[in-house]
Amino acid sequence: MSVLNILTYPNELLRKKSTEIRNPKDSEIQELIFDMLETMEKTGNALGLAAPQVGKLVQLCIIKLDGKTYILINPKIISHSWKKEVCEEGCLSFPGKFIPLKRSQKVKVKAKNRNGEEFILKANGLLARALQHEIDHLRGILFIDKT
Ligand code: CO
Repeated sequence: MSVLNILTYPNELLRKKSTEIRNPKDSEIQELIFDMLETMEKTGNALGLAAPQVGKLVQLCIIKLDGKTYILINPKIISHSWKKEVCEEGCLSFPGKFIPLKRSQKVKVKAKNRNGEEFILKANGLLARALQHEIDHLRGILFIDKT
């Protein structure tokens, strides 16, 4: 396992679209998951990390919230609430930058876990916000685009 270097804006990789992961159980992907987890551990209070932020253009992101770790492979938002709320948001690729942003209060996400099994995650509040933020990363969208 190793701690990965987190790319910061305006690194051009942050603007690229990530590709779908065909086989989540590939050793390369499993290793990336371990490394991203370790990287998040090291950054302390990080809520989420997306693979493009460590220079890997694959659809993988990790969220840690309330003692739970969510590993999402090929995540897709399948529905979102019309109701939105504003909250201050940060990003590891923008050290020290926080912006109040409007996001859907609730989302429903379909993804695969690290074993390649599909699951549906219904989220609201901070988890819903983190999901929207991280899934945006996989499409080259950054939180500064949302203002
Ligand atoms: Co971010």
